[in-house]
Amino acid sequence: MDVPKGLAGVVVEETKISSTKDAKLTFAGYPVEELKDLPYPAVVYLLWHQELPTASQLKQLEHDLVASMTLPAETIRLMEYVALEPQHPMSILRTTVSLLGTTNNGGKLDEPRQILGKMLAAIAAIIRLRDSQPQLRVNPQWGVVENFMYLFMGRRPSAKQLQAFNTVMILHADHEFNASTFTSRVVASTQADFYSCLTAAVCALKGPLHGGANEQVFNMLQAIRHTGVAPQRYVDAQLAAHKKIMGFGHRVYKNGDPRAKILRGIAKEIAAETNNQVYFEIQEQLAAYMLKKLGLHPNVDYYTAVIYHCLGLDESTFTVMFAACRTAGWLAHIMEQRANGCLIRPASRYVGPTGRHVPAASTKLATERRKII
Ligand SMILES: CC(C)(COP(=O)(O)OP(=O)(O)OC[C@H]1O[C@@H](n2cnc3c(N)ncnc32)[C@H](O)[C@@H]1OP(=O)(O)O)[C@@H](O)C(=O)NCCC(=O)NCCS
Repeated sequence: MDVPKGLAGVVVEETKISSTKDAKLTFAGYPVEELKDLPYPAVVYLLWHQELPTASQLKQLEHDLVASMTLPAETIRLMEYVALEPQHPMSILRTTVSLLGTTNNGGKLDEPRQILGKMLAAIAAIIRLRDSQPQLRVNPQWGVVENFMYLFMGRRPSAKQLQAFNTVMILHADHEFNASTFTSRVVASTQADFYSCLTAAVCALKGPLHGGANEQVFNMLQAIRHTGVAPQRYVDAQLAAHKKIMGFGHRVYKNGDPRAKILRGIAKEIAAETNNQVYFEIQEQLAAYMLKKLGLHPNVDYYTAVIYHCLGLDESTFTVMFAACRTAGWLAHIMEQRANGCLIRPASRYVGPTGRHVPAASTKLATERRKII
């Protein structure tokens, strides 16, 4: 029996939420290219119900999400305590999500819409804590994306920023059985609670081969900018040292990530508006060289690095931003797994030694030790 490396191509469950079949990303059958400009909560509704919402359903969801974007004072206090020692925002998020699972509304379990609202509020709070800025309150007159941006940026976004970030959130909202989503489904398959599943998903997202790549992309762009090395030479040196170039390659998309194509346009525009063209130009040179040299295309994390930088975010917070966007998808998969799935418990092929027996001398020694104790 051949075991596919990293479960590549192995179908482990059925889903109605999203698909990457034929390298096309669809949510409940709709191409992401057609969804990218809808209001973000409409796509959240689609992922959770596999139908687009009516106007009143959309209004209700938006209202409920914004109403949930206020954290209990006790949670903020505990988060401040956790953040006392300088540490990576993803580590603070991992603890915070677990913490949220212990501060439900007076023993009443949170519903997915409350959980999503709290996750967005918590991630914005982590960014504010990192920047030693006071926490802000939502404005019930604004939508969920505008409120989220206000909470982490400290000011209302421009109309253009709002539209761009709305698209970023939609493009990241779900992606079939990626590593963090599959992790959340494994935990959900044991019928564990939502926050346990989300904590596990955050742990899986943290690594640089998954969500952690966007931070590494920006580190690379900065290294190239500050050393003045030609991007091509940077790539050659990294490859010679057997290192990967972050933001390139994908397990599913071998001819280009459809999300990266849309994000490239946003990155180009926002970089020009904020006088950050230098980073986008390095990206263009890197992308051309990577394609020529290795046949690898940029993935979703490549252009978001520049977009997040242009929104004023520190690179250490890029992956918590990915988590904010992906929470809607995680919740959709947790609900589907809990409703329809059974316990995920695969098998392994044992390749270690067999037929061994504990030598009599070791058994005798253990008996003597027990007598001494
Ligand atoms: C995403 C990723 C893990 C997918 O990997 P995969 O499907 O398991 O493919 P592999 O890692 O086996 O890559 C296949 C080949 O391409 C190479 N490769 C893949 N991505 C590469 C990259 N970013 N830089 C350099 N080489 C890369 C591998 O070294 C491997 O070469 P080999 O066959 O000579 O050993 C991989 O492309 C990667 O590590 N990318 C960088 C991290 C990243 O951007 N992650 C975010 C993903 S959205």
